[in-house]
Amino acid sequence: MVAKLPIVVHPGYEQLAAGLASALGAPLVQHVEQITTEHYLEYGDSGLSLVSSLSDAGGGKPVTVCCDFVNGTLRHRRLYGGGIRQALGRAVGISSGFKPLVADLTAGLGRDGYVLASLGARVILVERNEVVAALLADGLARLRQHAAQDNSLREISDRLTLHRVDGKNWLRTLDKESYADVIYLDPMFPERSKSARVKKDMAIFHGLVGDDADAGDLLELACKAARYRVVVKRPRRAPPLAGIKPRFSIAGKTTRFDIHVLKKIPR
Ligand SMILES: C[S@@+](CC[C@H](N)C(=O)[O-])C[C@H]1O[C@@H](n2cnc3c(N)ncnc32)[C@H](O)[C@@H]1O
Repeated sequence: MVAKLPIVVHPGYEQLAAGLASALGAPLVQHVEQITTEHYLEYGDSGLSLVSSLSDAGGGKPVTVCCDFVNGTLRHRRLYGGGIRQALGRAVGISSGFKPLVADLTAGLGRDGYVLASLGARVILVERNEVVAALLADGLARLRQHAAQDNSLREISDRLTLHRVDGKNWLRTLDKESYADVIYLDPMFPERSKSARVKKDMAIFHGLVGDDADAGDLLELACKAARYRVVVKRPRRAPPLAGIKPRFSIAGKTTRFDIHVLKKIPR
């Protein structure tokens, strides 16, 4: 994927798009017809999206990737996802008496981080890819707008902060007092889903961020800089990250959480 994706701007979003274009060093474009690249960014009524123009071929809807914490899947997960007993909550060690500070060092589009915040954890989202971080910042901004009218959303959004930096560098800035209780890692892994449409979303996302080939280094550093545990999300049948065996795992239908225990979580 080209380094500087053009940004298509729709009326009413000129200022936001200009700010992003200058931050990313990306060109601004007024009409989709002017796009000659395979992928582009688009600012419009549904916020900022990453769009694949090639997927228009054959008359299908373009495949878009965006960050939406308020509607759709994440709304459903917040309301009906099973609360702290769901696998992600148990992996991170959330209980009625323990709401950890979690550093999500591979924040991506923030879905796991948002679920953790909805279960009561305070979550530091760390994302190094500037386009992904822009999508995430946009999703958080729209969450905050909705949160102004909705107390439960406000509590969740107050627990989320974003750092646009490499997780390894972020860890190196910490002193012992500021260690997170739990570090959460979900590095890219190919072929994460069987659904064709999800695959297309993932393919665009994968093309943008690449392979996260340094994930093993991140795990090693994380194991020295968390208070209680490091949790790694993997496809259910994948080997443990970097061959480092976890103390235990919690498996769901398609994914597995590998838990590297550093110290017993207080109850
Ligand atoms: C599979 S995605 C994470 C998806 C995320 N868990 C979610 O629920 O949306 C992996 C993300 O981690 C980011 N990433 C990988 N290594 C990183 C690092 N060392 N520092 C910061 N971000 C990193 C990638 O840029 C990518 O956006």
